[in-house]
Amino acid sequence: MKTRFKVAQIELTNHCNMKCPFCPQPTLMTRKKLFMDLDLYYKIIDQVVEDNLADCVSLTGLGEPTLYKKLISAVEYATDKGLSVKVSTNGLLLNVETLLNLYRARLDNLFFSLQIMDEEAYRERLDGKNKQTFKEYLDNLKVIISTHIRNNPQTKLRISIMGNWYLPHKNILGLRYFNLSTDLLRDFIEPIFSLIESESSLKKKSLKLSLDDIKIPRFYENDREYWILDNLSLVLKEANGWANSMDASDDYVLIPAKKGFCVAQKNMFEIFADGTVCLCCLDYDAKTTLGKLTLGGNERLVDILFEGRGKQIKDSFDKGNIILPFCQRCLGKRRHKKKLVHYGNMIRFYPFKVMDVMLKNRSSLMTRIRYSVINKFFKV
Ligand SMILES: C[S@@+](CC[C@H](N)C(=O)[O-])C[C@H]1O[C@@H](n2cnc3c(N)ncnc32)[C@H](O)[C@@H]1O
Ligand code: SF4
Ligand code: SF4
Repeated sequence: MKTRFKVAQIELTNHCNMKCPFCPQPTLMTRKKLFMDLDLYYKIIDQVVEDNLADCVSLTGLGEPTLYKKLISAVEYATDKGLSVKVSTNGLLLNVETLLNLYRARLDNLFFSLQIMDEEAYRERLDGKNKQTFKEYLDNLKVIISTHIRNNPQTKLRISIMGNWYLPHKNILGLRYFNLSTDLLRDFIEPIFSLIESESSLKKKSLKLSLDDIKIPRFYENDREYWILDNLSLVLKEANGWANSMDASDDYVLIPAKKGFCVAQKNMFEIFADGTVCLCCLDYDAKTTLGKLTLGGNERLVDILFEGRGKQIKDSFDKGNIILPFCQRCLGKRRHKKKLVHYGNMIRFYPFKVMDVMLKNRSSLMTRIRYSVINKFFKV
């Protein structure tokens, strides 16, 4: 039977061992840092299954799941109940032992958030306590990848790298290092391909693509995922501004949206480490709270989501009305303070968006030419 949502996202902890500048966890999040009570977690999983709320759980919120001592038990409890489980980690604490335990717990998807492939930028992510150098971090990832290739488990290892090809000329989060280069990407991927090819247990034909197939998404293209093996992929994803909360630029005014629709609230819900139930994972500070699950209480998750406040909010969304200020901001439009630049942006981007859809096989040379020519006229 079809579940009511695609994903139940559960935050095991909002403690973290990194302070990534592109994430609200270290700077914007004001929620009290804690670890979810394991029994509360069990209760949530039971209700997700009993009320057919989702068939997939993502053990991710605004924190690092590998800091949660009972991570393996948490994964196992959910997979034992027939749920598909995914975990996203910054990988600092991921070692071979944990990896093998996650395989045994039948984890479906493990996202390794490499994200930034630049030494200086990596150092900016460190919280001062961790002394792992960038080289050690990458070497550990290589060990993780080779263990994965050798074990060939059911678990999919998905290595995530972030860029800002949407507005490549602009620092959308006030960060300078989002321009992922093809050379950087090649330097990283080439050894993975050599490793696979050198593994006698894996025939070359198990490779699903060649190194040349992997390209950085271009102007206006969506995120891409390249499957290198059946259970190993590279995700190239666009940096987002966390519901328009993280744009460091003051060139824009944000016009909150009163009307609109959101797919996220239809597909998922988020339960934070203290049991607070929210609309989605972008809501780092629980501004879209629908209710709270407690260990001793008799609240039902399904009621929190579909009765009272939950019903009011979802009914409004169904009618195209956005009532929560956080969602209004999230779906809001940016307007450049200088009118001419604003119209310049519209002329510059919208036709390309349409063109991108129409000309699927355009050459990268053309993309570069049109980008540089237009950029000369409408400098933002
Ligand atoms: C908030 S983290 C929590 C899990 C874990 N700490 C990690 O880093 O994988 C979940 C995912 O969001 C990603 N993320 C954080 N800030 C982002 C941004 N501005 N744009 C896109 N993804 C972002 C992280 O890199 C990670 O892959
Ligand atoms: S992206 Fe993950 S690792 Fe980085 S600060 Fe946020 S929660 Fe921590
Ligand atoms: S509109 Fe609200 S529910 Fe939808 S993605 Fe944005 S913050 Fe989440």
